Amino acid sequence: MRNVGTARAAASVVLVGLDADAMGMVRETLAAEAVLPNSSISFGDAISAVKRQRPDVVIVGFHQAMDAALALAQALVKESPNVTMVAMADQSNAEAILAAMRVGYKEFVVLPDDASRLRQVVHDAAYAPDDDDEKGLVVSVIGSKGGIGTTLICSHLAAEMAAIHRVILLDLDFAMGDAASMMDVVPKDTLHDLLPRADRVDERMLTGSVAVHRSKVHVLAQPNDVDKVEESNPDDIYMVINASAKGYQYVLMDIGSYVDAGAEMALSVSDIIILVTAPDVIAVRNAFRRLKLMERLGIEKERIRLVVNRQSKTSFVPLADIQSNLGMKIAATIVDDPKTVDTAINEGKLIRDINRKSEVAENISSLVAMLTSDFDGEDDEAPKEEPAGGFFSTLFGRG
Ligand SMILES: Nc1ncnc2c1ncn2[C@@H]1O[C@H](COP(=O)(O)OP(=O)(O)OP(=O)(O)O)[C@@H](O)[C@H]1O
Ligand SMILES: [Mg+2]
Repeated sequence: MRNVGTARAAASVVLVGLDADAMGMVRETLAAEAVLPNSSISFGDAISAVKRQRPDVVIVGFHQAMDAALALAQALVKESPNVTMVAMADQSNAEAILAAMRVGYKEFVVLPDDASRLRQVVHDAAYAPDDDDEKGLVVSVIGSKGGIGTTLICSHLAAEMAAIHRVILLDLDFAMGDAASMMDVVPKDTLHDLLPRADRVDERMLTGSVAVHRSKVHVLAQPNDVDKVEESNPDDIYMVINASAKGYQYVLMDIGSYVDAGAEMALSVSDIIILVTAPDVIAVRNAFRRLKLMERLGIEKERIRLVVNRQSKTSFVPLADIQSNLGMKIAATIVDDPKTVDTAINEGKLIRDINRKSEVAENISSLVAMLTSDFDGEDDEAPKEEPAGGFFSTLFGRG
């Protein structure tokens, strides 16, 4: 999962050994940045409080009780290595700064002079990639237009991965979300139920809310009554994705084809984004627009995998033209096979359950490689700038 620098929950802070004046200055400095306790606790209570509250930051009164402050830091480095420690003093002193740094204080601040530095370190602590290595791979599937196969691809890819991994599918398509019906599961709690509690969502709450598909995919669905859902809040979406990435090895997200602020957040934190298009002019033109949008969001091309769905011999647009006009290699294609696909959807089954040997089933199972192997999406032969004289040049360029 990618880190993003956008607003999330405020940092939580524990204050130790600060007098009333110091408390007042901290409050003034961090009002917008952090959730502050009403009082400062004693050195004796500090370790148990930090263990209990798991704050992002501990601010310690340094000058009045230097020895206690040094001893506390040494203990916290061992007990709570992820917490950011800040020493606060009433004057700057080279020796004290050095002593503080040696035992693990990240910053030594004197207020109000160092107010902006304190704000920065507290802000950064809230975004610290605490346990990033342990987080699962976050994958978005986004359609270049509606009805193009986004949900089909997302749910089948989830089912493929679930054979050997813990997989959750988040239906983030707030407009048309139908992953539950595609997977033929009955949603328990929906995303709509979880988002208002997003700041408290953890692994247990997720496993209590998902519907479990036969393939072992855990599905967090949209409510049937989609009218109820308002525009999604990116902070809430972030927290649900973050909790999912902590609890599952793969987080697959059906973004749909409409990009709101929540979808932008989901795309931004994704390790891999599968952009689904089709070999027709509108779908390719819209894929171009999506690529432009992702470029604006700062998403590198290396994260994007272009998939062409419903490919056939009679496709209107040749694959080579799609690649050259989008300036991107096609990572995978899926053949157009209405008979097999519609039978699967109507019977609430996976395509492989209808006909494992079919080309469409094989195409889908080879999508797994996009998530497990490195892929270079750059099309070396394609124009790097906007297409100049290509087949679609009149359609593009103003995306
Ligand atoms: N490879 C394929 N071959 C044949 N038909 C397909 C294929 N992929 C998708 N379809 C058809 O397209 C329909 C829409 O698929 P799907 O629901 O996955 O699209 P979507 O992009 O999620 O749509 P929506 O915009 O409604 O969310 C399917 O019901 C199926 O009939
Ligand atoms: Mg869909």
